[in-house]
Amino acid sequence: MGYHHGYHTSFRSIAISIILLLPWLDRVESSEFSSGCDYFNGSWIQDSTYPLYNSSNCPFISKDFDCQANGRPDNLYLKYKWNPTACSLPRFNGLDFLMKMKEKKILFVGDSISLNMWESLLCMVHAAVPESNYSLKSKGNLSTFSLPEFGVSLEYSHNVYLVDLVKEDIGVVLKLDSIENGNYSWKGYDVLIFNSWHWWVHTSKGKNQPWEFIESNGKIFEDMDRLVAFKEALSTWSGWVDSNVEPLTTRVFFQGISPVHYDGREWNRSVSTTCKGETTPVNGTIYPGGLPPAVAIVKQVLETMSKPVILLDITTLSLLRKDGHPSVYYGQDGNDCSHWCLAGPPDAWNEILFALLSNS
Ligand SMILES: *[C@@H]1O[C@H](CO)[C@@H](O)[C@H](O)[C@H]1NC(C)=O
Ligand SMILES: *[C@@H]1O[C@H](CO)[C@@H](O)[C@H](O)[C@H]1NC(C)=O
Ligand SMILES: *[C@@H]1O[C@H](CO)[C@@H](O)[C@H](O)[C@H]1NC(C)=O
Ligand SMILES: *[C@@H]1O[C@H](CO)[C@@H](O)[C@H](O)[C@H]1NC(C)=O
Ligand SMILES: *[C@@H]1O[C@H](CO)[C@@H](O)[C@H](O)[C@H]1NC(C)=O
Ligand SMILES: *[C@@H]1O[C@H](CO)[C@@H](O)[C@H](O)[C@H]1NC(C)=O
Ligand SMILES: *[C@@H]1O[C@H](CO)[C@@H](O)[C@H](O)[C@H]1NC(C)=O
Repeated sequence: MGYHHGYHTSFRSIAISIILLLPWLDRVESSEFSSGCDYFNGSWIQDSTYPLYNSSNCPFISKDFDCQANGRPDNLYLKYKWNPTACSLPRFNGLDFLMKMKEKKILFVGDSISLNMWESLLCMVHAAVPESNYSLKSKGNLSTFSLPEFGVSLEYSHNVYLVDLVKEDIGVVLKLDSIENGNYSWKGYDVLIFNSWHWWVHTSKGKNQPWEFIESNGKIFEDMDRLVAFKEALSTWSGWVDSNVEPLTTRVFFQGISPVHYDGREWNRSVSTTCKGETTPVNGTIYPGGLPPAVAIVKQVLETMSKPVILLDITTLSLLRKDGHPSVYYGQDGNDCSHWCLAGPPDAWNEILFALLSNS
């Protein structure tokens, strides 16, 4: 899939966890714990006040994510709230978001999983101010949603590898060490939210692998180990952030690996699927299948960075949502166990994003 196709806590518990975490915080700057709460450890609980918006009143949802419109018959999956173990996640408040983000520009950069999260945020914000005039423009790979009344701009840049894809005489080359892309398109934002992973495992040249050669350390290859390539590209990206981002004006997030539910073997699309027919999340805080190997790579790279980057560590909470994918309700023949229904799990990613933005 291409273009169409990461308050009420008791004061004492915050204090205790900060004390316990202090030695650890010293070592790992770029951590979700900087807010004093691990929002990513928790479970899904039923809550009849969810979802945060009615998908039929949100004009921004791609057909692929619009599960109810595509005929999904069950709706219990809409009625879950993400509930962190050690503290509470504030319910998203669109007006509060718009006040805090007044005159600010937020950019999501990544593949269709970023699109999924961006559309979710648009729906969440629009639901709070349905009468407010908005504009939605697309130019090349950039889509811009703005609310002039608040001066807020929420943007999405389609960019599946973050590093550069360059058309050369030999063919299209994926350059793991080059990221000139960023020079022109990632500057001047208050918040940047990056994501990349799914396209690193695409094969089948020309079809869903848009490159013919891969350049690593100045050498050209026909192919290479994809996890090694991903790590090299992420290191190039981290170098860009470290040398170009001014932390006082720009907050940087990395949206962690969004998992798929293809028979538990998330890197292999050819195996039979298990998200089909799922109508409830996994109970509890632990996903029995383990984590995709890319998660460790993301964490390793983030730990080496000199600028603060917050990991939106959404992998486990999303793994628990085996019921949250469009599956056969994505509007075409087939079974999509990698994107997410809207309304659905990306709404919780955005609740956490806003909680982290509010805390800092
Ligand atoms: C989540 O938090 C609980 C309680 O603090 C802890 O026992 C558990 O190990 C944590 N789980 C993970 C995956 O970190
Ligand atoms: C969502 O909105 C549509 C159109 O306004 C309405 O028909 C439907 O009942 C609403 N659904 C819910 C669950 O409120
Ligand atoms: C939206 O735009 C229309 C037409 O330009 C204008 O009449 C209306 O007052 C605007 N509404 C808001 C809430 O700004
Ligand atoms: C985005 O579009 C610009 C302008 O067309 C182009 O130069 C750039 O290569 C594109 N980036 C990606 C990642 O597609
Ligand atoms: C783009 O940025 C990179 C690293 O930040 C730098 O090495 C490169 O010279 C820049 N390229 C241009 C054309 O400005
Ligand atoms: C994916 O699974 C199929 C069927 O089990 C197997 O033939 C294929 O080798 C696997 N591919 C990878 C990359 O693991
Ligand atoms: C999950 O928990 C709910 C409520 O406690 C229970 O009804 C349900 O059977 C549990 N599901 C599984 C798969 O254990």
